[in-house]
Amino acid sequence: MSAESANPAVNMDAIVSLAKRRGFIFQSSEIYGGLNGFFDYGPLGSELKKNIRDCWWNDMVRRRDDVVGVETSIIMHPKVWEASGHVAGFTDPLVDCKVSKQRYRADQLFFAAVVVDGKTVGYVSALESEKTTEDLQAAAETFKRKKAIQGTLAPVAPRDFTEAKPEEWALIPSPATGEPGSLTEPRAFNMMFETHVGPMRDSASVAYLRPETAQGMFVDFKNVVDTGRVKLPFGIAQIGKSFRNEITPRNFIFRSREFEQMEMEYFIHPDADWFKCHEDWLAWCKAWLISIGLPESHLSLYEHKKEKLAFYSRRTVDIMFNYPFGVQELWGIAARSDYDLKQHQQFSGVPQTWFDEATKQKVVPHVIEPAVGVDRILLAVLCAGYAEEDVKDEKGNVEKRTVLRLSPRVAPVKVAVLPLLKNKEALVGRAKALYQKLQRRYAVFYDDGGAIGRRYRRQDEIGTPWCVTIDFDTIEKPGDTFTLRERDSMQQRRLNEAELFALLEEKVY
Ligand code: GAP
Repeated sequence: MSAESANPAVNMDAIVSLAKRRGFIFQSSEIYGGLNGFFDYGPLGSELKKNIRDCWWNDMVRRRDDVVGVETSIIMHPKVWEASGHVAGFTDPLVDCKVSKQRYRADQLFFAAVVVDGKTVGYVSALESEKTTEDLQAAAETFKRKKAIQGTLAPVAPRDFTEAKPEEWALIPSPATGEPGSLTEPRAFNMMFETHVGPMRDSASVAYLRPETAQGMFVDFKNVVDTGRVKLPFGIAQIGKSFRNEITPRNFIFRSREFEQMEMEYFIHPDADWFKCHEDWLAWCKAWLISIGLPESHLSLYEHKKEKLAFYSRRTVDIMFNYPFGVQELWGIAARSDYDLKQHQQFSGVPQTWFDEATKQKVVPHVIEPAVGVDRILLAVLCAGYAEEDVKDEKGNVEKRTVLRLSPRVAPVKVAVLPLLKNKEALVGRAKALYQKLQRRYAVFYDDGGAIGRRYRRQDEIGTPWCVTIDFDTIEKPGDTFTLRERDSMQQRRLNEAELFALLEEKVY
């Protein structure tokens, strides 16, 4: 077999369809019609997700001497969220359409004045997309034609709804109805999910599902310092669920309402070179993404504009990924100053300090925070790995194969063990023995159903890097060798058990 051409036409429909078909990701509560912004991970998806988490935890926590891990509770004291600023400020601007009852994030609802011969004759709107400007220009042309307006149409100048002047609100058409007059003015919508702790449902029992894992690390800073024998600079890392009542969850698992974060708060001395530390973490995060198989060509950096940063933030740079729906934030790396610890010190009354032996002074450390979503990485891994290609079989016939080129580090199944025939006891016995030995250390799959080519194809589609076929040479010839078939090159070679384990040891870490 040989690969003729790679098909770069990855689109979200193909990814969503594969994810469902092969048991990676399902809509949550699907039999009840689903719940917008919530997802379930199926047998392969949960393995893939676990591998991403494990790689991050091993590299970030176990393989570093300066980072320790914690697991903090999802529901914390409500004062935590007052101190962090989330109660007052964790909001998105919301716009309602009074007619259609649709809700929009104001910063994702774009509009433009229709200007003919220098005069504004109306407004058009469009939801944010890769081609917002083209959509608005087309809408402006249609508007002019429908209203039979003569003159020269100026190129549109898109703005988002948060930039609209109050006198423009009523003039901008709703994307749902196409008519002006139904959009409300933007208002701040707090994205934290509320619940109640204990049997009373009153204002005193209000608590929140955490919208980020980070506050768990800040609130436990003192506990870790007092018990962990840590010295500045050091980090506290955590993986866990976060919840945000997003106004417009979208792009599959990219923006959901329940998701998983991997965050690390790196505490540094106030006099340390924070910029260098920030740069170092940026480089670390990028290299880590490449180590789990994301191509460097799909990654880019976006530096947040100074004037848009929170007042306490010194610098934020996002690592962006080129998803099929556009280049979007994957990993945010923020220099957060001493804001969080100082806020908790003030709200709790408990000093959040570290004793500097050199100067014999207590200091409140500053923080560099790399924060990333597991689900966003998983989606990036699927999008980068997906390919459809024409391949030739042994007889020269061209057929399509769908392949997920996943790194062996994250692939949900590392090896598929395939006896050539299922009714030959010697083949099955050897295959089962190998399968059980591999199973002790790796996620492996045993498949004895159908032609060998079809079995390879099934594994290609779920990203299994290697298939091992137990054939007649295995049982009849000396050396106890198997056929190893490599997913990406589709090349085959013979190797024995020790060589197979050595290969796995090298590639799966
Ligand atoms: N503690 C800082 C913090 O939470 P963030 O930029 O709001 O920063 C960090 O979130 C990362 O979490 C994002 O870069 C993204 O990967 C992920 N994330 C945020 N909101 C998400 C959502 N609604 N769905 C999936 N992932 C999300």
